[in-house]
Amino acid sequence: MEHGQFRVAVIGAGPSGLYAAAALLASGEPVSVEVLDRLPAPYGLVRYGVAPDHVKMKSVIRVLQRPFDPAHVEFLGGVRVGEGGIGLDELREHFHAIVHATGSSVDRELGVPGEGLAGSLGSGAFVSWYCGHPDFTQVDPPLDHPGVAVVGAGNVALDVARVLAKTADEMAETDVPGPVLDALRDSAVRDVHVLIRRGPQHVRFTPAELNQIGDLAHADVLVHDDGLLAAGVEEPAERRQKQNLAMLTEWTGNAAGDAPRRVHLRFLRTPVRLLGEDGRVSGVVVERNEITEDGRVRGTGVLETLDVGLVVRAIGYAGEPIPGLPFDAATGTVPNEAGRVVDGGVPVPGAYVTGWIKRGPTGVIGTNKGDAGETVKAVLEDLPTLPAPAHPEPTALRSALTAHGIRPVDWTAWLRLDAEEVRRGGQRGAERVKVAELAEMLDAAHGAQAT
Ligand SMILES: Cc1cc2nc3c(=O)[nH]c(=O)nc-3n(C[C@H](O)[C@H](O)[C@H](O)COP(=O)(O)OP(=O)(O)OC[C@H]3O[C@@H](n4cnc5c(N)ncnc54)[C@H](O)[C@@H]3O)c2cc1C
Ligand SMILES: NC(=O)c1ccc[n+]([C@@H]2O[C@H](COP(=O)([O-])OP(=O)(O)OC[C@H]3O[C@@H](n4cnc5c(N)ncnc54)[C@H](OP(=O)(O)O)[C@@H]3O)[C@@H](O)[C@H]2O)c1
Repeated sequence: MEHGQFRVAVIGAGPSGLYAAAALLASGEPVSVEVLDRLPAPYGLVRYGVAPDHVKMKSVIRVLQRPFDPAHVEFLGGVRVGEGGIGLDELREHFHAIVHATGSSVDRELGVPGEGLAGSLGSGAFVSWYCGHPDFTQVDPPLDHPGVAVVGAGNVALDVARVLAKTADEMAETDVPGPVLDALRDSAVRDVHVLIRRGPQHVRFTPAELNQIGDLAHADVLVHDDGLLAAGVEEPAERRQKQNLAMLTEWTGNAAGDAPRRVHLRFLRTPVRLLGEDGRVSGVVVERNEITEDGRVRGTGVLETLDVGLVVRAIGYAGEPIPGLPFDAATGTVPNEAGRVVDGGVPVPGAYVTGWIKRGPTGVIGTNKGDAGETVKAVLEDLPTLPAPAHPEPTALRSALTAHGIRPVDWTAWLRLDAEEVRRGGQRGAERVKVAELAEMLDAAHGAQAT
C-alpha cells in the first residue's frame, strides 16, 4: 500500500464504502485508505443481500474489488468498529477522517400482535440466512408448512418469494451454503402469498424483478386484486409502473395450473395479526383495504385468515446507531450534510457517512457510486484542515487491533477464503458455494495459521 500524507478509514466494505475507497484513490490526492469490515468477507449486501440466483448482478464485485487489487487499499476484515471490537474514539487516534458506510441492517417491524412468534422473520434475517451470513446460520426458518406469507411490495419481497418458489435443483446452481440447500430441498412450501397493502399501480418492484416471477419454471403466478385491474386503474406516469401494470394485467388471466408451487400476489391486504400455535406462527390475519378517491388506501374492517407457517416481512430496514455519533431514530440514519456528519447542524470534525446509513435503505448498488462521490468530495475539501491523528503510522493500528485480540482478515487471507468457496462450488457444479460458519471462514482465510 502506498502511504499518503492523510489517512482515511472507511468502515464497511459494502458498495458505498468501496465506491468511496475507489473515489479517494482516483482523486490523486496523497491519501492512504484502509477499509474495515466486521465480517471476514467484503462486499456487504452484494454478498449478503443480492439474491443468490442473481449471478449477473454479483459481477459488480469485479468493479468493487479494484482498490484492493493491486493493493492500493488495505482490507481489514473481521474488525468490528464499536462494542466487541475497536471503539470509535480509539480509531480516531489513527485517522484524519473516518467514512462510515455501515448500511442499514435492522429489520423494520410491522408492530402487530404475534410478531414475536417463531416463524416470524424480517427479510434481513431470512435473506442473511440463505445468503450464508455468519450471524444467521442458526435461523432455521420453518419451511414445513405449505403456506408462507411475504409482506411488502418492494424488490426484496420479490427476491424472498422467488427463492421460496424455486426448486432446490434450481438453487443448487447458486452459491447458497450446503445446509441452506438441504433446508430448501426439504421444503414443503407450496403457496407463497405476497401481501401488498396498496394497489397494482403502486408497487415498488422493478419490472425486471417482477418479470422473473412470471418466468418461474416451476411456479404459477396468480394475481388477487379484487377486480381492480379489470375495472381499470389510472394510467401511471412512470414508465416502470406502466410495465409492471401491463405484466400484472396479463397475469390476472392466469388460472392455477399443475406447477408444484404458486406465487399469489395479494393486493390491498395489510397483515393485522399473526396467529400462533405452540409458540410458532400458524396463520396471518389480513385486513382488506380499499383505495379512496384521493388515491390513498384505507382498511375496510373485513378480515381474512391465511394458513401459513412462516411470515417474512420485507418492509424495509433501518441503520444501527454508531456509538459516538448522532443518530436520527425516525429515519434510521446518521444526520449529515452532503456526507459530513452534523450534530445539531454543526459538522463533527473528521466524521463522514455514505450509502444506506447516510440516506436510508433505498437505491440499487449503482446509486451508491454518486452518493460516495459526494461524500468523498467533502472529505477531500476538509482533509487539509483536519488535525493530524495521534498515531498516524499504519503499524500502530495493527498493534491496537492485536491488543484487542483481533486478527484481521487482510486481502490475501480473503482471497484464500474466496478460493475455498470457488473450490466448493466446483464440487456442486456452481460458480461458488459460500462458507457460512464464522470459524470455518476464518480457518479458510488464515489457512494453516488459523487459531
Ligand atoms: C435483500 C437485498 C437485496 C438487494 N438486491 C439488490 C440487487 O439485486 N441489485 C441492486 O442493485 N441492489 C440490490 N440491493 C440494494 C443494495 O444492496 C444496496 O444499495 C447497497 O448494498 C447499500 O450499500 P451500503 O454500502 O450502504 O451497505 P451494505 O451493503 O449493507 O454494507 C455495509 C457494510 O458495513 C459493514 N458493517 C456494518 N456495521 C459495521 C461495524 N460496526 N464495523 C465494521 N463494519 C460494519 C457490514 O458488514 C457491511 O459489509 C439489495 C438490498 C437488499 C437488502
Ligand atoms: N434487483 C434489484 O435491483 C433489487 C433487489 C432487492 C432490493 N433492491 C433495492 O433495495 C432497496 C430496498 O428494497 P426493499 O424491498 O427493502 O424496500 P422498498 O422498495 O422500500 O419496499 C418496501 C415495501 O414495504 C412496504 N411496507 C412498508 N411498511 C409496511 C407495513 N407496515 N405493512 C405493509 N407493507 C409495508 C412498502 O409498501 P408501500 O409501497 O405501500 O409503502 C413497500 O412496498 C430498494 O431500493 C430496492 O429497489 C433492488
